[in-house]
Formats: sequence, C-alpha cells, structure tokens
Amino acid sequence: ADVHYYEFFVRESNFTKLCNTTTLLVVNDSYPGPEIRVHKGDTVFVNVHNQGNYGFTIHWHGVKQPRNPWSDGPEYITQCPIQPGTNFTHEIILSDEIGTLWWHAHSDWTRGSVHGAFIILPAENETYPFPTPNADQTIILQSWYNEDYKQIIDDALAAGVAPPTADAYAINGHLGDTYGCPSDTIFLMEVDSEKIYLLRIINAAMNEEQFFTITNHTLIVVAQDASYVRMFTTDYIMISPGQTMDVLVIANQNVGQYYMAIRPFSDSAAQPSEFITTGVFQYTNSEGGLNASLIPLPAMNDTDAMLNFISQIRYANVSQNPTINVPADTDINRRLYIAIATNTMPCNTSECVSDSRFAASLNNVSFVSPRIDILQAYYRNITGVFTQDFPFTPPVFYDFTGNLTDFNTEAGEGTRAIVVNYGDAVEMVLQTTQLGAGGSHPIHLHGFSFYWVGIGTGNFNNEIDPSTYNLVDPPLINTVHSPAAGWVALRFFANNPGVWYMHCHFERHSSWGMSTVLIVRNGTTTETSMRPPPSTMPRCPGT
Ligand code: C2O
Ligand code: CU
Repeated sequence: ADVHYYEFFVRESNFTKLCNTTTLLVVNDSYPGPEIRVHKGDTVFVNVHNQGNYGFTIHWHGVKQPRNPWSDGPEYITQCPIQPGTNFTHEIILSDEIGTLWWHAHSDWTRGSVHGAFIILPAENETYPFPTPNADQTIILQSWYNEDYKQIIDDALAAGVAPPTADAYAINGHLGDTYGCPSDTIFLMEVDSEKIYLLRIINAAMNEEQFFTITNHTLIVVAQDASYVRMFTTDYIMISPGQTMDVLVIANQNVGQYYMAIRPFSDSAAQPSEFITTGVFQYTNSEGGLNASLIPLPAMNDTDAMLNFISQIRYANVSQNPTINVPADTDINRRLYIAIATNTMPCNTSECVSDSRFAASLNNVSFVSPRIDILQAYYRNITGVFTQDFPFTPPVFYDFTGNLTDFNTEAGEGTRAIVVNYGDAVEMVLQTTQLGAGGSHPIHLHGFSFYWVGIGTGNFNNEIDPSTYNLVDPPLINTVHSPAAGWVALRFFANNPGVWYMHCHFERHSSWGMSTVLIVRNGTTTETSMRPPPSTMPRCPGT
C-alpha cells in the first residue's frame, strides 16, 4: 500500500452563477474541490491550511478511520475548528473501502462549497468485479445559493426560521441550460461509441435527495458508499445527500448529445426547489439531438419510483468486498430505537421572529453542540461536556405516525451520547415520524458501514417486523434513506473504538439538532483500543 500527501489551501474565491457573483470558501480555489485518488488500503495525509476568516473542520465521509477518530473531523465531536492562519494534518488509513467516497467541511453549512471526491481504486493486485471501464468520471451533485452558505444558516438559526431552499442545483459546479442565465455553463462529458464509463456519483447537495438519469442510456449500479452491490440496471437512480454510487454506462449510441439530468426527490410537505439541472453526455465529434422532453426523470414526489430503486440494492458477494458479517438475531445485545422528528422549540433570543423556532430531534432530544469536542472530553475524562444516557432505556414505543401527544411532552435539548461496548452486536431502528413537515431523512453514521436489513411503512412493530429483515445480502452502506412515516433497521458489530457522530445529512435538520453521538468503548487489547491523539490537534477556543 502507498502513502499519499495532499495540501488543501482553504480560502475565499469569487464564483459567478445565475448571473450573480459571490464569494465562496473553497479548497485550492476550486468548486468542487480537488479530487483525492488512491488505492484500497493506502494511507493519505491531508494537510488542511485555513486561509479563510473563520474556523472550520473537514470530514472524510465514509472512511472508517479504524481506531483513529482523531482524524474524522466533525466540529466539536472529534476536534475543535482549525482556526484562521493555522493548519491540521489528517492521517487517513484506508481499510476495506472500495469505490467512491467524498470529503466535506463539517462545520455549519460550509460543506456547501468545501467538498470533493475521494476515489478509492482497487488495490494494485485486484480488479473490478465487472467489465473494466475505459474511463471513469466523477459527478458531484450540489446545491447552489447566491448567498454565502455559512451566512444563510447563521441568519436562519438566529431568527428561528427555516433557511431558504436552493437557488439552483449543479453538476460538478455547472448549472446547465435550464436556469435562463446565458453565462452559466453546462457540464459536458465526452464519450466514444462502444466504450464503458464508470460514473462516480456523489450527492453533495445540502438538503435534497436527487434522481439522476441519462437520456437513452441504461445505468448499471455497481457500488454504493464504497462497497460493491449486486449489479442491476435502471433508467434512473435516487441518491441521498451523503451517499455515493458507482454506475456503469455503456456508450451504445453512435452519435449525438444526450441530456444527463437531476431533479430532487421529496415526500415532505416542506418542498425543495423543483429544478431540473442538466449536463450533456456527448459522443466525440457530434452535436445535436438534445431534447428536454425526453429526459426520463421521475416526478419530484414519486415515492414509488424512489422505493423501486432503493429496494434493488443488495450486497455483492465478491472477493473485493469485506466478508459479509451481518449480526444474527442471537448475536444482538444492544437494541437502539430512535425516533426522528422535526419540531419546534421556544425561541427567546432578541433576533427571533416569533416565540417558537424550528428544531429537530432524535427521541425528542435536540442535540446541542458542546464547546470542547466530545472525543477529547471522553478521552481525558473532562466532565460537564456531554451525558451518556441515550437513547431511553428500556425503549419507548410511541405511535409515531398517529397521536404524538406523549412524544411532544418529552421535548428537550441535550448533548447526549449512546455508549456501547467494543464488539457489541447493535441493532438500530430509525423511526421517522409525521411531526413537522414529515419527510424522509438520510441518516449517516461516522466510523462504520452498517448493514441496512429492513424497511417498512408506519410504526415499527417489534413483534412482527424483524421477521421481514434481509439478513442474507443486505447492502453495506454509511447513509440510509429513512422513509417518511416509516422505519429502517440497521445492524453492525461495534468493532471500531472511538467517538462517532450520527446525524441527518440534510444540513437543515442537522443544524436544528437532528444528531447524536455513538461512543464505542475500548476493547481489552491495544488492537481493540483507540490510538492516542496526535500532539497537533487544534486547540479549542477558550481552553
Ligand atoms: Cu457527510 Cu457527518 O457527514
Ligand atoms: Cu432529516
């Protein structure tokens, strides 16, 4: 395995989109930022230099960081912000990840402009478990706002209101030809007839799941969240913020230009902007043939199209994947039931526009970010930073889709962590409620991939629903779509000691407190315990 070194210089640069020029905090002056491209099992050092005006952190989404949460990055969870004029080097040791992941800022909404691809090619002695592509192409889906990302959420939180929806969506920084601004550019992917392309699709949008398609071309899904899946063909995919999907496309036309396009999927009453954003899949030396009326995208609220797609995803039993290791019923020794809600809370700051503010919660606890990172507090036994009493024991089952009166009365704030022992076999059920606008939630866990073993509508029924689980070939992923007014079940072995953030990957919701922390205690040996911190960890302001 090789060792790679990257330098990230993070500073403000000007970008013009929608005929409007704005200043964005970006890495190495580019939006999206630079691509990391390494092989399975390599080690990557990234030296992050803050040349901007405020502190932030960077997270390597989907990289497990075995025994080394110190390099994971979420602000006030595993480190304090990298302050302007300082730098911090992450040491990222890859293990079984294979395919596409990404990196992004993990402070307020800064990830809107600070993000890029993290590509993990097969190890030198390994091949793809599918026809070798002639080329690959990274496709990053983004939300564009005319206003500064950090300013948007700072203002919305102060006023207690919902932040605005995106002004546009982008593909690799291009807004395409549907927004009506002549200076906007369109993403163009040039292809040769008969060749095979591997698309590495990353949903970096702030608050929107997205459908993606290419007119007149079949998509072959081969991986999700850096684990191979059983190959299947489809006309479109649905990808949640945080998720990554590897998709083969055979260029089986002879000439012409074909639209690629994205449109948000939403089953929430709080609708995002329904823009279709275009790119072009163009055969060498040919033009013409673009026809917007042919773009085969499902409608924004097409829940069946979304479910039809995600229900086809299965673990692939190939030598390049980790050996499948789903905890069996008899293994499970930690059961966690977590209800997801958007709600409101009292607002009593002078900027509030009314006496209640938007909030979000897990088990009706809205997460409050501490002022010293939880990892350091845990490691050094600093008290008063967080509590270890989450979620409720024994589990409380409410009627999440119906009468929520009892649930509402439990509302509160806290910095509460789930603590499990090293090696515990964990089952986690995420129950999405009808509180608030009642949509779906892409829930992401740091430090792990987990097996997504079940999904259903309505209230989770502990007596009946476990019999529907797929324990044979469940997908191994790091971000799961929790359906509106339904549930998903996850299983994994807690074999990575550390402090791991878990949150909704809609930034709107995580900013409102839809998050918690999973602490995995050390095992009994050095190999099953956390590494000590590097001496270079950023200092927490005021300590
Ligand atoms: Cu994509 Cu907490 O991360
Ligand atoms: Cu959410």
